[in-house]
Amino acid sequence: MHYALCINATEVKSPNGNMVLNFTVEDGRPTYTLSYKGREVVRPSHLGLELAKDKHASMGMNERDLMNGFTLVDEKTSTFDETWQPVWGETKDIRNHYVEYVATLSQQWREGVRSNNPNMQLQPRVHRRQILIRFRVYDDGIGFRYEFPQQPDLNYFLIKEERSEFAMAGDHTAWWLPGDYDTQEQETQETRLSEIRGRMKEAVNWRNSSVAVFSPTGVQTSLQMKSADGLYINIHEAACADYATMHLELVDAETEALTTKLEGSSNAYTPNPQPSNYPLPATFTFVSHLTPDATGLKGAMQTPCETPWRTVMVSDDARDMLASNLILNLNEPCKLEDTSWIHPTKYCGVWWEMIVGRGSWHYTNDFPSIHLDQIDWSKVKPNGTHKANNENVKRYIDFAAKNGLDQVLVEGWNVGWEDWANMWKRDVFDFVTPYPDFDIKMLNDYAHSKGVKLLMHHETSSSTQNYERHMEAAFQLMNKYGYDAVKTGYVGDIIPRGDHHYSQSMNNHYLHVVKEAAKHHIMVNAHEATRPTGLCRTYPNLVGNESARGTEYEAFGGSRPDHTCILPFTRLQGGPMDYTPGIFVTKLSEWSNNTSWARITIAGSLALYLTMYSPLQMAADLPENYEKFDDAFQFIRDVACDWDESIYLEAEPADYITVARKAKGTDNWFIGGKCDENGHKSVIKLDFLEKGRKYDCTIYADAKDAHYDTNPQAYTITKRVVKAGDVLKVTEAPGGGFAVSLLAK
Ligand code: NOJ
Ligand code: CA
Repeated sequence: MHYALCINATEVKSPNGNMVLNFTVEDGRPTYTLSYKGREVVRPSHLGLELAKDKHASMGMNERDLMNGFTLVDEKTSTFDETWQPVWGETKDIRNHYVEYVATLSQQWREGVRSNNPNMQLQPRVHRRQILIRFRVYDDGIGFRYEFPQQPDLNYFLIKEERSEFAMAGDHTAWWLPGDYDTQEQETQETRLSEIRGRMKEAVNWRNSSVAVFSPTGVQTSLQMKSADGLYINIHEAACADYATMHLELVDAETEALTTKLEGSSNAYTPNPQPSNYPLPATFTFVSHLTPDATGLKGAMQTPCETPWRTVMVSDDARDMLASNLILNLNEPCKLEDTSWIHPTKYCGVWWEMIVGRGSWHYTNDFPSIHLDQIDWSKVKPNGTHKANNENVKRYIDFAAKNGLDQVLVEGWNVGWEDWANMWKRDVFDFVTPYPDFDIKMLNDYAHSKGVKLLMHHETSSSTQNYERHMEAAFQLMNKYGYDAVKTGYVGDIIPRGDHHYSQSMNNHYLHVVKEAAKHHIMVNAHEATRPTGLCRTYPNLVGNESARGTEYEAFGGSRPDHTCILPFTRLQGGPMDYTPGIFVTKLSEWSNNTSWARITIAGSLALYLTMYSPLQMAADLPENYEKFDDAFQFIRDVACDWDESIYLEAEPADYITVARKAKGTDNWFIGGKCDENGHKSVIKLDFLEKGRKYDCTIYADAKDAHYDTNPQAYTITKRVVKAGDVLKVTEAPGGGFAVSLLAK
């Protein structure tokens, strides 16, 4: 049944007419619905913001809610169609084609105002203010945002909560992470909406260095869902700048008030509960829930300003979820004038051996704690396990040079790792002083002489004030020695204390780092930062983020085999992930004391270079592990990480993903297929190849008896010559996958 709003609602159709938005103001509240091919996607849902009371109210801080009492005073509809070229990406061209609808809403009220003379009575005055809600209706979804023009009655305001509603039309299956103000490194849960509350305790029962759960039905975005009748629906946000990251709180049968306590779990947390003053929406409605700052507030705004875009993507074909450019399109065009220094990068690093526990980031075991300004490092006794040492780094540089990798990440090169995390210590690192066994000049010169660069590492341990103080000197040091990329990190609770990883102030910090880095021609890959929302279109030197459960967890107990068949539907919607794939020796006990293991086959590891799109790709395993499987490593040597074209051939969340991509500026194609624990049979029609041309085709597949647990290293490599129209049939093992290179002859 197609649900319609009251008859005078405005209807806005996407360019092909499949996506239909309805908007009206009902009883003074802005209200919208969304349908796709005549099927309900979003039932009537209210939009608005509750504002906070503040001691500065008499000074012009506005505290009247932006929730109700609105009248619709103007409406404008227009069409936009433009094709733009990203600096790097999955495709050479991106079409941005939408119908835009802007509603101007007015609120009016009478209230006394104080004059400058304290003896005078309050003077009654009529107050008026206007806000805009801007919708963009695409063929594959919508975006909407609130805009606040500058005006006498709306200059400054504090957000108590944004109340954007997304009323779902059924008890959909959802792939969700528990809502958390500080981390998104959990395993994804797969349940019906009605089962979220029941699963929450189990979902939050895990360990991480910074956890802040807020509600028994709170989940993170990007949230992927599937309806019983086969609609794929995804809720996320675009262009989250100078604003807090949005979570979603589900109203279910047991919800009593929004913003409720989560009790009875080790990660229980109650952030300043502020129940809403407005009626609860219907069951299966998601309501936006912003990340608070240290004071419990959700945003400090000065007009003119706007919120990020709230996005709903919809299709009846799962492949469209992965091919969608909606989030990038809703971001501003590139703001950097010169982007010639930004480039795709394949790298290896002095990293996995520390994560697995065979070596250390720190240099000495001699001090109970470190004061950076009180230690003469040349006199300190080394512990013998420090991996960022000249000899080891040279070994990785040699490996990179031999195998055509562009860069070598070195972690643990700088002083301070002896007591770096979770000590509430502000002055943790200075980001410029190397340990005595890391000769920064010699190693950079050595790397450059072999056509390789070092990749810088700045672990801030979430001491952001400290990082901002040292950043300029740190970037100058990078420029001096020829580094052009930095991996940053935000392990542990945020310092200054009380703030959260996804608050407005922290989101400002991450973007500040990206902008400052751009001035120094430095690319940024931020770990533990907020989840991406497509800002890499505007600042393409933001080449990567972790912001999800990465490969490191394979050394911390492991991730489920379907994990990488979910991430492209969820985390990757906002931008590339530095997933750090490529583990070949999956049973870590084969070379370390770590009993954890990666639930993937070698062929599956190769597939991730295609299915987990990123312009920055790591070959994460040890050089000696790759040397054992050099014929399979050939695929990592060959594979590109920047593309002219991408075609999603098969996809189903948490089951399988198959994609073909054409390497930038060439006629070479690469195909990757990744599946869950059940295995998958892929049939690939090569109808995208250039007609009349022949291709050298190499297929890296799971062997017949391969299995992510019992036989992960069993693979076959088959070579043949193919042409357009040929068909490849490949069987993926449980937890496996395949990779194909097609080099034009
Ligand atoms: C967590 C990051 O995800 C990981 O890659 C890094 O090695 C450690 N922090 C130390 O910075
Ligand atoms: Ca991490």
